[in-house]
Amino acid sequence: MARQVLVVHQSRSGATLRLVESLSSGIKSASDVVDTEIVTLERAALLATSAEVIQADALVIATPEHFGSMAGATKFFFEEIWDDCLNHTQGLPWQLIVKAGSDGAQTIEGIQKLANAQGWKQFRPPLLIVGEVTEAALNSAFELGALLAVSLDSELI
Ligand SMILES: Cc1cc2nc3c(=O)[nH]c(=O)nc-3n(C[C@H](O)[C@H](O)[C@H](O)COP(=O)(O)O)c2cc1C
Repeated sequence: MARQVLVVHQSRSGATLRLVESLSSGIKSASDVVDTEIVTLERAALLATSAEVIQADALVIATPEHFGSMAGATKFFFEEIWDDCLNHTQGLPWQLIVKAGSDGAQTIEGIQKLANAQGWKQFRPPLLIVGEVTEAALNSAFELGALLAVSLDSELI
């Protein structure tokens, strides 16, 4: 049976999106060699729905930091899905990717609080990329995607 990864992202100037693309490539490369079909659904934060979160087997949230917090669109996503997801998505494996100019810590803290309140289960520590999106940063996102796909295939999550 196919397993679905929902990737909810926001990116104004493209840096976060580059990380998302690398993550998705990692998911695809691993899913090509495992038994389970892993389907990745990339959704802009302003368009993602609670039904998509409820249907997902894993959720990735990728956001820049804006004004010491998650981007407004990411906050909108949480506002939109909050009530519908509460008590219907407990245990959902989730992963955070934060792209920041100089910090990112408050974004991580804020989103982790919300995810904990929903009862989601953090897959790996947040991937925080500060400053330029380097090859190393892209590789980290790729490896995270591959690990997520393999973990879904092995039913480790
Ligand atoms: C309006 C705005 C506010 C920002 N506020 C912060 C901030 O509080 N902390 C920080 O580390 N970076 C901040 N940044 C920098 C962005 O997080 C950084 O440029 C990021 O790479 C943007 O990602 P994107 O290209 O996916 O839009 C801000 C950028 C913008 C446009």
